[in-house]
Formats: sequence, C-alpha cells, structure tokens
Amino acid sequence: MKIKTAEFLISSADYKGCPETGFPEFAFIGRSNVGKSSLINMLMGNKSLAKTSGTPGKTQLINHFIVNEKWFLVDLPGYGYAKVSKNQREKWQKIISNYLLKRSSLTLVFVLLDSRLDPQKIDLEFINWCGENQVPFAMVFTKIDKLSCTELNRNLAKYKKQLSKTWEELPPLFATSSTTASGKEQVLNYISMVLTQL
Ligand code: GTP
Ligand code: MG
Repeated sequence: MKIKTAEFLISSADYKGCPETGFPEFAFIGRSNVGKSSLINMLMGNKSLAKTSGTPGKTQLINHFIVNEKWFLVDLPGYGYAKVSKNQREKWQKIISNYLLKRSSLTLVFVLLDSRLDPQKIDLEFINWCGENQVPFAMVFTKIDKLSCTELNRNLAKYKKQLSKTWEELPPLFATSSTTASGKEQVLNYISMVLTQL
C-alpha cells in the first residue's frame, strides 16, 4: 500500500472524545516503550508524526492519525508501566479497555511485543483478554534489529508455543524494526487487505 498522506488529527482523553467520521481504524497497543509510536512513524515514513521517547509513558492520550484521507491509525498509551502511580496506571487501563470495547469503528488492534523478551505475563494476559472480548488483533514483534535471526526465531517459537496452549489458531504475526523498516510492507499489505474486506 502506498502512503500518500498521513496527518495527526486529534488527541482524546477517552473514547467519547474520538472522531466520529466512522473511518475504519487500526490501533497500536503494548507495554510502555515497546515502540508503538516509532512503528507508526516507520509505517508512515515520517519520523516526527507520533512523539517517541526513551522514557516510558510518553503517549498518554488516544491519538488519531488520518491516512490517505480514508482510514485512521491510533497511537495508544502503553499498559503496565510500573513507574507511574497505581492510580494513574488504573486510569490508563480504563481508558484503553473502554476504547477497545466501545469504539465501534475499531477494525483491528496491533499488539506490540518486544522481540528480545520471553513471553511476558502481562502481554499474554492482554492477548487473552482481547480473545475473550472478541477484540480482533494481530501481533507485531518490535525491535528485531536488536537481535540475531537465530535469537528472533527462538523467541518467536517460545511465543507461538505459549499461545498454542490457549489458541487453536494463531493470530497473524509480524516481525518489525523501526530502525531498519523491516516488516513495513508486510504490515501495510495486511492493513490494505483488511480494508478491502470491509
Ligand atoms: P510509550 O508511548 O511511552 O508507551 O512508548 P512507545 O511504545 O510509543 O515507544 P516509542 O516508540 O516511544 O519507543 C521507545 C524507545 O524505543 C525509543 O527510544 C525508540 O527509539 C526505541 N525504539 C522503538 N522501536 C525501535 C526499533 O525498532 N529498534 C530500536 N533499536 N529501537 C527502537
Ligand atoms: Mg508512544
């Protein structure tokens, strides 16, 4: 898919403030610092579109970007960031779960996972929550530039093994790097395919 235009539209404090145009939307979620904002910038070919940071907890609102004037990309706050207060964490969790459950134009959620790590409890819980709540999702492994092909395959195999305990069929899975743009075509082609099926 060719990206002709990608622009920031609006930040919302919760799902009620999100735009009402009804365009299909694809949201990016995962732990703080996993690389959500960087991935959005890589996919759109614009390094300054979504704000990124080495400090976790950068994205605190629901951010809508309009792509090719007909669909949305959504950058969400990270989940499970330990260094903010419990109160703040619970607030973000509520914002995210309300958004995922109540946003009728949500087409698909990309769940981002750090490819360097073993399967993490919080990510598996989130994936299972999506399944239980019929939230359609795909998995995106990030930062693959930071490990060798062998290490990547080993970590992906661990995830697949873990997920096959609860899932009969595995969700679509992508391996990406925002530094090298690996996986860019695969993710964009997948979005394009989903859009044509709507
Ligand atoms: P929050 O908004 O805080 O939840 O974080 P986020 O998930 O949006 O992460 P962000 O895109 O801000 O990236 C966090 C850090 O990881 C930044 O320092 C990025 O430069 C780095 N990073 C993100 N993606 C990659 C990648 O593919 N490769 C490498 N090497 N670094 C990455
Ligand atoms: Mg971010």
